[in-house]
Amino acid sequence: MNYVIEIEGLSKEYEKGFLKKKRVLALDDLTLNVTGGQIFGFLGGNGAGKTTTIKTLMRLQFPTKGSARILGHDIADVQMHRRIGYCPENPYFYDYLTANELMSYFGELFGYDAATRTKKSDELLTAVGIVEKDRKRQLRKFSKGMLQRVGLAQSLINDPEIVFLDEPMSGLDPVGRREIRELIAGLRDKGTTVFMSTHILTDIEALCDEVAILRSGKLAAFGSLQELLGGEEASRNLEINVQSVSAEEIRERIEFIAGASITPRPHGATIHVLDESDIDAVLAVTRDAGGRLGSITPVKQSLEDLFVRD
Ligand SMILES: Nc1ncnc2c1ncn2[C@@H]1O[C@H](COP(=O)(O)OP(=O)(O)OP(=O)(O)O)[C@@H](O)[C@H]1O
Ligand SMILES: [Mg+2]
Repeated sequence: MNYVIEIEGLSKEYEKGFLKKKRVLALDDLTLNVTGGQIFGFLGGNGAGKTTTIKTLMRLQFPTKGSARILGHDIADVQMHRRIGYCPENPYFYDYLTANELMSYFGELFGYDAATRTKKSDELLTAVGIVEKDRKRQLRKFSKGMLQRVGLAQSLINDPEIVFLDEPMSGLDPVGRREIRELIAGLRDKGTTVFMSTHILTDIEALCDEVAILRSGKLAAFGSLQELLGGEEASRNLEINVQSVSAEEIRERIEFIAGASITPRPHGATIHVLDESDIDAVLAVTRDAGGRLGSITPVKQSLEDLFVRD
């Protein structure tokens, strides 16, 4: 397999409090492989360990245990870091630089000449929606969403093979989110691998090919969105809406069907069954009680179900 990120048994324990006596296990034996050329969603609630993982991969802090490779090189390999990009959770830059100056500064770190720096800066700031007049303003006057955009532009200055984005949509308004979503989708089309952390489920559904869900520093789920949400088992679940009959009239007989449950509705009821083969039984019970069929809908597990499940 063509894995561009390989994480093996990674753990990170923070020491905190007075005399650093308290310990927090922020990352607990995480093993994860990511294939290239996709948008990979790294999900988890607040404090799940997303930022800890990304910072460790970026070598901004050291793991307590375990190892990781990016593009086939150990994360300690400085040369490899030239080939990747990173946008932190809350980008923080030198306040008194303008957006143009900041981009030029990062361009210089990668050894680009002045003309290339200007060209790249213009292209990227345009792509993230920072208009020309704002590019000459100091970053201290930028809003949270504008800084987020500059952070994203900065992370792409070296045409990275993989870009790590920690909550790239946070702080953006709905229009901004759509623009940045399109930009991220465009990166994948160009062949860039995107590893992005987020807890905005709609962004994941719109963008991600594969996801990992982190819970209390441990891997809770991993797979393609299709596998996780539309798996065979999930698609066999059905919701049957019946009308002209109350839940009370049929509850006893419905609950006789293995795994079936019933919820009252204003002019009928919704019956949830585990398999298509239960439909006939539900319809028979409903007709006996003088009711009729409203609709039958396959139930897909939502990302939200998966996300909140213990
Ligand atoms: N520098 C630190 N010192 C001590 N504890 C820390 C430190 N950084 C993070 N933690 C703890 O580690 C755990 C994981 O934090 P992390 O920032 O990785 O979560 P996250 O998934 O990025 O959350 P969010 O969605 O809120 O950004 C939390 O319990 C947090 O309190
Ligand atoms: Mg975080």
